[in-house]
Amino acid sequence: MGHPLVFAHRGSSYDLPEHTLAAYLRALDEGADGMECDVRLSRDGHLVCVHDGRLDRTSNGRGLVSARTLAELELLDFGSWHPNHTSTGGAGVLDESHTRLLTLDRLLETVRAAGRPVRLLIETKHPSRYGRDVERRLVALLDRHGLTVPRPEHPLQVTIMSFSLLAVRRLRELAPALPTVLLLEMLPRGFRLNRLPFGTRIAGPGLALVRARPDLIPALRAAGNQVYVWTVNDPADLELVLAAGVDGVITDRPAQTLTRVHG
Ligand code: G3P
Ligand code: CA
Repeated sequence: MGHPLVFAHRGSSYDLPEHTLAAYLRALDEGADGMECDVRLSRDGHLVCVHDGRLDRTSNGRGLVSARTLAELELLDFGSWHPNHTSTGGAGVLDESHTRLLTLDRLLETVRAAGRPVRLLIETKHPSRYGRDVERRLVALLDRHGLTVPRPEHPLQVTIMSFSLLAVRRLRELAPALPTVLLLEMLPRGFRLNRLPFGTRIAGPGLALVRARPDLIPALRAAGNQVYVWTVNDPADLELVLAAGVDGVITDRPAQTLTRVHG
């Protein structure tokens, strides 16, 4: 087996504010194999890259992301909350335009322009008021970018992830050719390692589950699945998942992780 893939979780989000263009551009510069991004819907149905349901932690806004239009979200500052917002880590002040709201559309354009193969893991976070709209809008956007049917020659490869079985099922129905990751915080009752639901071939267990079940990664892989583990920032945890034969590591610190994985 080659090196495990290194995915930048919310961009290079240890060093720079998560889900901003600044964090994703840094991850591209650092040579990450891929990047992870959470998406949810604005009030007027745009897919935006924000982890929390509320704006409070990562912007100067308050309240629900889903209660604001795209135009309203675009007025907010998504950078100043982060300790490194006044610096790029030595090269000057962060470009203010790079710490505004990031739409998935812009992230797709940015990654495509990178000029090298990059994988994008898109995780759907879905407010229940929108029902299946987040999956439908996601597939429609990917279709506009020509990304619903993976083509080996295309530099950008998209994989969709969710903790929700319902979301995974909808995505498999809407875009059967797109690879999916079933994210796992724990193993559901009746979970079969040798048969992930709805034809999914990649499992995404969290570190807590991997620590509790040291046999999990080898067992999933022996059953023909790939395994991507989140969120691996600590060197000891990285050693644990590498020793277990992990296929992909999702980390806030891609540069540090790449050094170890390729070293
Ligand atoms: O990559 C999966 C991981 O991001 C899931 O947890 O809360 O960071 O979205 P969370
Ligand atoms: Ca996520």
